[in-house]
Amino acid sequence: MGTSVNGFSKLSKEAKAKWVAEHYASNPEETLQLMKSFQQPGSEVQKVLDGFSENTVSNFVMPFSLAPNFVINGKVYCVPMVIEESSVVAAASASAKYWMERGGFNCEVLGTRKVGQLHFSWPGDASALLAAFPEIRQKLLEETAHLTRNMEKRGGGILDMELLDMTSMEPEYYQIRVNFETCDTMGANFINSVLEEIGMLLNDIFAEADGLQHQPGSATVIMAILSNFTPECIVRASVECPVEKLWDKNLGMEADCFAEKFAKAIRIAEIDSYRATTHNKGIFNGVDAVILATANDFRAIEACGHAFAARDGQYRSLSHCEVRDGIFRFWLDIPLAVGTVGGLTHLHPMAKCALDILGNPGATELMQIIAAVGLAQNFAAVRSLTTTGIQKGHMKMHLTNILNHLQASEAQVIAALDYFEDKKVSFSTVRAFLGR
Ligand code: HMG
Repeated sequence: MGTSVNGFSKLSKEAKAKWVAEHYASNPEETLQLMKSFQQPGSEVQKVLDGFSENTVSNFVMPFSLAPNFVINGKVYCVPMVIEESSVVAAASASAKYWMERGGFNCEVLGTRKVGQLHFSWPGDASALLAAFPEIRQKLLEETAHLTRNMEKRGGGILDMELLDMTSMEPEYYQIRVNFETCDTMGANFINSVLEEIGMLLNDIFAEADGLQHQPGSATVIMAILSNFTPECIVRASVECPVEKLWDKNLGMEADCFAEKFAKAIRIAEIDSYRATTHNKGIFNGVDAVILATANDFRAIEACGHAFAARDGQYRSLSHCEVRDGIFRFWLDIPLAVGTVGGLTHLHPMAKCALDILGNPGATELMQIIAAVGLAQNFAAVRSLTTTGIQKGHMKMHLTNILNHLQASEAQVIAALDYFEDKKVSFSTVRAFLGR
C-alpha cells in the first residue's frame, strides 16, 4: 500500500525527493543520491529543465546521437537523434550511407494545413443555424483579427472555417472546423487561443439569440481545441534506383530477388494490421528520435501518424514500394505537424543545438528531414528482416548493453567486442563468454 499526501506540489524540490525516497524507494539513501547525481543544482540549464514540468525531483537523461550522410533533396545533413534503443541510429546511418550512393532521399511537403475544432450544442432549428452561419463566420473572423494579425504577417492565419452538422451521430451536436496555417510553429498555442476566443464569441452570439446560454437544453459551447489529426499537414519521402543498383555485398542474394522480396514485405504491411503496427513502429523509431532531439511533441506526432495509418478503417503501413520497369521505388507519406520556433524548440538547450546542427531549418524543411529518417529506418529494418534477420544487427549493437548488465570489466568488454564480431550475440552466449 502506498502513502498519499496533501500539498505535495507546495513542497520544495528537495522535500519532494526526500518524501518519495522515504515512502516509496527500496533504498532511500541510494535513491536520493541517484536523483542528485543527475542534476546540475543552481545552473541555468537546471532552471530551464525544472520549468518544463511540475513536481520535478531530478532529470531523466537520454543519449543524444548523430546519423550522418543523409542526402535530402541534394543537401547533406547530419541528423541528431535522441533514442534509447540500440541499433536504431546505426540502422539510420547505414541506410543514409546506402542511399547516399544511390541518389539520396527526395522529399516533398504535400500540405501544411492544421485543424482546430469548436464543438457546440444547438437545440434549435438546424436550417436557421446554417442560414445564419455566413454572418456568424464573418463576425468570428473580424473579432479574432487581433489574434491572427501577426501570424497573417508571416503568411499564415485562418485559412477557412466551416459549420458541420453532426446531429445524425449525436443529438444537437455541431462543430465549427477551422483550418489554419501556422508557418514555422507547431501552432498549438496559437490555434487554441483563437479557438477559445471563437468559443467566447459564439457564447455571446447564443446569449443574444436566446438569452439562455449554459442552461440545460440551450445552445452551448462544449469545448474548443486543436485536432492532432492533421492529414493535410503531410510530407512524402522517397528513394528510387534501378533494381540492379540495389546490390550490396550484405544482401546475400541477387538485387532483383531482394527487390521483389522487399516489395512483398511492404505489401504484407499494407494488408495485415499486426505486421503494419510493427512496421510503422520501425518508422517511428526514426521519426520519434528526431522529434525528441528537436523538442517537438512526440505524442501528437504518434497519435496523428497512427490515425492516418488507419484512415480507411484498417490500420496499414505508412510506407509503400513498387518495382516497375526495372526501377525500385520506396516511399513514405506521413503527417508531421512540427515546429522550429516556439514551444521548447529553442528553450531546451540540446534541442536548440540539434536545430543548429540541422542548419536551423524552417518547419517544412524539418518535416522533410524527419520523413527521410523515418523512411531510412524502415528501409534498414525491412532490409534486415528480408535478408539476415533482425537479430544479427540488433544484437550486435545491443552487445554493450548486455556487457554493462553483466558488469563486465573494461578488458572483458574489449575481448567480447572482438570475439562477437562474427558470432551471434545473445544473453546466454555473452554470459557463457564471460564464464558466468
Ligand atoms: P552492418 O552491415 O553490420 O554495418 O549493419 P557495417 O559495420 O557494415 O557498417 C555500415 C554502416 O552502418 C556504417 O558506416 C554506419 O553508417 C552504420 P560507417 O560509419 O562505417 O561509414 N553502423 C553504425 N553506426 C553507428 N554505430 C555503429 C554502427 N555499425 C554500423 N556501431 C546494422 C549493422 C545495425 C546497421 C544493420 O544490421 C541494420 O541496419 N540492422 C537493422 C537494425 C534495426 O532496424 N534496428 C531498429 C530496431 S529493431 C525494431 O524495433 C524495428 C522492427 O521491429 C521494425 C520492423 O519489424 O519493421 C525491426
